[in-house]
Amino acid sequence: PVVSVLELGGVKIARDDVVRDDPTNNVPDTIFAKLGMQLHKREKHPIGILKNAIFEYFDTNYSNKFDKFDDLCPLVSVKQNFDDVLVPEDHVSRSYNDTYYIDSQTVLRCHTSAHQAELLRGHTHFLVTGDVYRRDSIDSTHYPVFHQMEGVRVFSPNDWDGSGMDATSFAARDLKKCLEGLARHLFGSVEMRWIDTYFPFTNPSFELEIFFQEKWLEVLGCGVTEQEILRRSGKENNVAWAFGLGLERLAMILFDIPDIRLFWSSDERFTSQFSSGQLGVKYKPLSKYPPCFKDISFWINDSFTENNFCEVVRGVAGDLVEEVKLIDNFTNKKGMTSHCYRIAYRSMERSLTDEEINKLQWDVRDQVVSKLNVVVR
Ligand code: PHE
Repeated sequence: PVVSVLELGGVKIARDDVVRDDPTNNVPDTIFAKLGMQLHKREKHPIGILKNAIFEYFDTNYSNKFDKFDDLCPLVSVKQNFDDVLVPEDHVSRSYNDTYYIDSQTVLRCHTSAHQAELLRGHTHFLVTGDVYRRDSIDSTHYPVFHQMEGVRVFSPNDWDGSGMDATSFAARDLKKCLEGLARHLFGSVEMRWIDTYFPFTNPSFELEIFFQEKWLEVLGCGVTEQEILRRSGKENNVAWAFGLGLERLAMILFDIPDIRLFWSSDERFTSQFSSGQLGVKYKPLSKYPPCFKDISFWINDSFTENNFCEVVRGVAGDLVEEVKLIDNFTNKKGMTSHCYRIAYRSMERSLTDEEINKLQWDVRDQVVSKLNVVVR
């Protein structure tokens, strides 16, 4: 049963305000149920423990200068989430396929950058932590709700005057130094590398990757804030840097947590393994229960997207779905395209029965037909 009213930042929000029978609304009940959970505010949860460890780094190195915001409401306007941070009109992140819309002007924030512009008006150093929402495909590192921390620091001319550098290079150097220090504070010595990238709100922009389990894993995006954002916030004579980091990504590495669904587990065998202030205690698996694979093939139509399919699967199987993978894709002579997906079902907490999985798979079949209008083969 889904709670029907929740209070977010002092505002009461009813289920019907968020999950509506309205063509411009694509927020399912499963997502509504996550609003207000605020894992980042639980002192004994890996996400809360990590948040506090990052605070500790900033408090020590910047003598408590960073103002912290933990409670900003995740329902924001399209203006806050996109326009204020200069996301172009035609950017994919604005699409209904990528973002949860409550109505055409209101979204579940897809990044904590949604709060940058407003906070820049009153603050020069700040950290914003919160839950963010993205429609996506399903695997062990992706979940439609996760947590980010945004950091912003504003400089004045006296900061860079005398450095012999231009303001932008000065900010970029300071940013990298700050984040490398943070990575060492969290990981000790770890292999890292900087990748040049693009964000609409920063220039230059970078990603920091960390080497983990034989792979380079992207853990944060950052850059020098676009001057236009500062100008609009009445700070045209300043420069700033900003970063946004994914707390789950970092926590998975630090605590050895193999699957992102575990963060939502209320199983005491998971939750009892962590304690406040203890960063990096290695998670002991509850023993790995076996996965079960089921395939489904269907003829897609023009409006089909993998994100929509994944949402149907999650709607049916909830956290019992571990991964959804496209394993075959072909177009016949008539121009019809068929997709075959392999769904991995696995519980983190127990063994699943054949009967239970078959029932889930039948429900998925029914719902892809009724909700996505595809033709099952
Ligand atoms: N908002 C970006 C994201 O979610 C991260 C970011 C924040 C990048 C701030 C640059 C500056 O991917």
